[in-house]
Amino acid sequence: MKAVYLIATAVIITALLVGGIAFVLLRPAPSANVVEIYHWWTSGGEAAAINALVDVFKAKYPDVAVIQSPVAGGAGYVFQAVIKPLVLAGEAPDAFQMHAGYEGKPYYDGGYLEPITSLWQSEGWESVFPKVVRDMVKFGNDYYAVPVNIHRVNVVWYNKAVLTAHGIDPTTLTTWDAFFAACDTLKAAGITPISLGDSGKWTDTHVLEQIIASEGIDFYQDWVNGKVTSATDPKLVDALTKFSKYLSYVNTDHAALTWDQATAKVVSGEAAFNIMGDWANGEFYVANKVYGKDYGTFPVPGTEDMYGLCIDCFQHPKGVKHPENSLNWLKVVGSKDGQDAFNPIKGSISARTDSDTTKYGDYQKAAIADFKSVTHMFPSVTHGSGAPQTFSAKLNDIMSNFVTNKDVNAAATALTQATKDASADYTTEWSL
Ligand code: GAL
Repeated sequence: MKAVYLIATAVIITALLVGGIAFVLLRPAPSANVVEIYHWWTSGGEAAAINALVDVFKAKYPDVAVIQSPVAGGAGYVFQAVIKPLVLAGEAPDAFQMHAGYEGKPYYDGGYLEPITSLWQSEGWESVFPKVVRDMVKFGNDYYAVPVNIHRVNVVWYNKAVLTAHGIDPTTLTTWDAFFAACDTLKAAGITPISLGDSGKWTDTHVLEQIIASEGIDFYQDWVNGKVTSATDPKLVDALTKFSKYLSYVNTDHAALTWDQATAKVVSGEAAFNIMGDWANGEFYVANKVYGKDYGTFPVPGTEDMYGLCIDCFQHPKGVKHPENSLNWLKVVGSKDGQDAFNPIKGSISARTDSDTTKYGDYQKAAIADFKSVTHMFPSVTHGSGAPQTFSAKLNDIMSNFVTNKDVNAAATALTQATKDASADYTTEWSL
């Protein structure tokens, strides 16, 4: 009887132990304690930067798992088609990458975003983000997003050894004539002067936008205010004509390449120049290239006194699954630590005025100085900020057609028609 009792006890204890271990091993993960973020940072430099930001979050909130859902495609040209249906279906992730300015307007108009003015106040952000940035993340009287960086879009990247080998002094390339003359020299020597990777189409728009800025800040301002409506506007025609010339210097395989593959040609010296936002800097970093030694930059000719703005943000969508984690993510995004971990790798400058500049490379130190000293800032249209979505959504196709047919009149007509079609949506009056 005693033996039976002992055996029964042993069986029960064993069962409890096994059951306990099984419970520990098999219990469902604490799925509530995650934060899910969507973004399009998938190139080498971009991925390294977002991982650094996630690391800052993990250090502050070790119990929260970060689920990254990246959608490849520079400038978010694939991402937009993925995120919009999710948001409209009430399935927004806890936060997603979004440009400052117009890009968030349809979400705001539809009531899909929570105002986060109280978070801005409790984090003390109003005193550390410059006004130009603050104004771009407000709708009505409230804040709806938190900027993580400031990218500059009007930058020419060059391979230093290639220019030196062909006797080209980059400091002299301040006009389109001088720039194209340098391209002629390189072309005659069998070097690809300009690298372009427009499999994503947006890179064509990106270049046109910088050329439009080079036509003068007044013209750019008219453009983003929806006032360039004549297909025979001399500045619009001139910008397209310059772009056509620019295209005569690009690599023949441009349609097959992404933006970062195009940047890689300048990194390696296969091409001399690339017009790209300063996320390109992140690609030079991951290739271990040194600014000033291996590569350099100068402002797009005619835009020396301008800083073209591309600002990445996150927001607090309505009805997210993990609201507290979503807000904590935003806190890290807007924090000094978060920005000073992310931006030195990303290539951008911090959106805050109190960043630790010792953490930034020489390109960025110069960019920080330029940001303070330039006379004009302009919001990028290619990167969501400057013009209504109803206009900018048509731009990439128009410019991609132009790259194929170089038809200035057709492109000018299509661009101005798109502006007229969107006329009711130009709700921001930019004063640049
Ligand atoms: C921009 C974005 C940058 C960079 C770039 C290329 O629109 O703001 O952060 O990712 O696209 O993907």
